[in-house]
Amino acid sequence: MEEILSAIKESAKRICATIKDVDVGKTGHTNATGDTQLKLDVLSDQIIEECFSSLQSVKTLISEEKDEALHVRDSGRYIIGYDPLDGSSLVDVNLSVGSIFGIYEDGIGGANLKCAAYVVYGPRTELVIAQENVEHYRLGNDGEFKLLGQLKLGQKGKLNAPGGTQQHWPKFHKELIDSLFQNGYRLRYSGGMVPDLHQILCKGGGLFSYPSTTDVPKGKLRLVFEVFPFAFIYEKAGGQAIDGRGRILDLIPTHPHDTSPCFFGSNYEISQVIKTYERN
Ligand code: F6P
Repeated sequence: MEEILSAIKESAKRICATIKDVDVGKTGHTNATGDTQLKLDVLSDQIIEECFSSLQSVKTLISEEKDEALHVRDSGRYIIGYDPLDGSSLVDVNLSVGSIFGIYEDGIGGANLKCAAYVVYGPRTELVIAQENVEHYRLGNDGEFKLLGQLKLGQKGKLNAPGGTQQHWPKFHKELIDSLFQNGYRLRYSGGMVPDLHQILCKGGGLFSYPSTTDVPKGKLRLVFEVFPFAFIYEKAGGQAIDGRGRILDLIPTHPHDTSPCFFGSNYEISQVIKTYERN
């Protein structure tokens, strides 16, 4: 695992430098889930492939930006599921973006995750790694990631990050979101999954939701590259992650690019989601 964590750090430094220097520019292609691929998506994917494909412990690379899994070596132990640059269209408006990594063994179900990590490229570059605990690092001017401490969610937070187009939300979902606001929750939604979930984690609690909607009934966010890694991180931080019916990490995708509705939060907010969704 140590060589994988070093590769995450190395790729993060190179992607951070690339974001600062390269045009976002469209490539003219779309990825497997239909998003327009930007030059930065492709470059970030290449950087991660370069950093990981020489590692003895890596069996397969599954990227959000590649249609097919890339087999690296039979003797490798881990499958790396990653989103090289989540929220990349936000670079043009200078908002934070991120890279997400899930380290799987023997399959790509939630239960196969051994470690998950993400990098936030914002005013600062930060890295969060979850194994038994959730460790929070910051990249210093000396080019090293320094440990800041551990992240833990409280029982209840104050932030509400509601994803998806409201026009397409089910009525009961709107009632759930409205009831949180009526109870004093503050809106914190940038449109980047990584900074939005990072904020809730760093501030100790709240709810991030991306529900099933009439336009995307199976949700927008991808299980292997986005939803499973964050579900693992939130659980290790003392919170929960559900799809509205059950625990996210119990799901088994039928395809690497499968999506799922998802709710991440501290225990109180998730109990509110469960109450609402059970009745509907
Ligand atoms: O995965 C793509 C992504 O940009 C996430 O980072 C983000 O949470 C989500 O899409 C935002 O979607 P929407 O604009 O529909 O709320």
